[in-house]
Amino acid sequence: MTLARLAGPIRRWLYAGGTRQDRLRDPDAVIAVVDLRPGMVIADLGPGAGHFTLRLARAVEPNGVVYALDASRSTLDDLRRAADQRGITTLRPVPVRRDHLDIPEPVDLLFVSATYHHLPDPPNYFAEARTHLRPGARVAILESRREGLLARWRGRHASSPRRVVREMTDAGYRLSATHDVVRGYWYGLFEVGH
Ligand SMILES: C[S@@+](CC[C@H](N)C(=O)[O-])C[C@H]1O[C@@H](n2cnc3c(N)ncnc32)[C@H](O)[C@@H]1O
Repeated sequence: MTLARLAGPIRRWLYAGGTRQDRLRDPDAVIAVVDLRPGMVIADLGPGAGHFTLRLARAVEPNGVVYALDASRSTLDDLRRAADQRGITTLRPVPVRRDHLDIPEPVDLLFVSATYHHLPDPPNYFAEARTHLRPGARVAILESRREGLLARWRGRHASSPRRVVREMTDAGYRLSATHDVVRGYWYGLFEVGH
């Protein structure tokens, strides 16, 4: 029996911290919140296998761009192949340093899912990121909360929401909205300014 087949209450208790598998993080619900339009320019920091990235790339078709920024070149190679197989032409893989954001052009949305906790110095990283944002741009952060049995056990793959908000405020952003669309995950939208 897989964990996903466990009785609902047990499964919810185990996965309360958001350490569930990708298929349980509803990508359509997450993306609906950011209200995308064709032609937008987006950066997805730490796209991984593209659970959200490929949908972001579809949403900005036909003339938008999604920059997939990852420190792992093999991850970007796999992602490029996945996009090619689906006929997606709006994806641009860009290798980045782990401590420094570099985007080829300013973006309307910087999307950061399950990657915040990987950044060595988030306040400096996101302060610097402001120069890569278009006026009115948003930063969307989806991050496993440090709550629940599995999340506490795998605590380094999560961040407390309070810490994220404090660090983003220090970096010069204000929290404009939060959305409770993935159990165990905190999802916040930030804009530049206080
Ligand atoms: C846990 S995966 C998240 C994947 C995807 N965003 C999701 O939510 O399914 C983290 C990804 O971030 C990348 N990564 C880790 N640290 C990074 C950094 N400092 N800068 C850029 N990418 C990073 C990893 O290579 C990996 O692809």
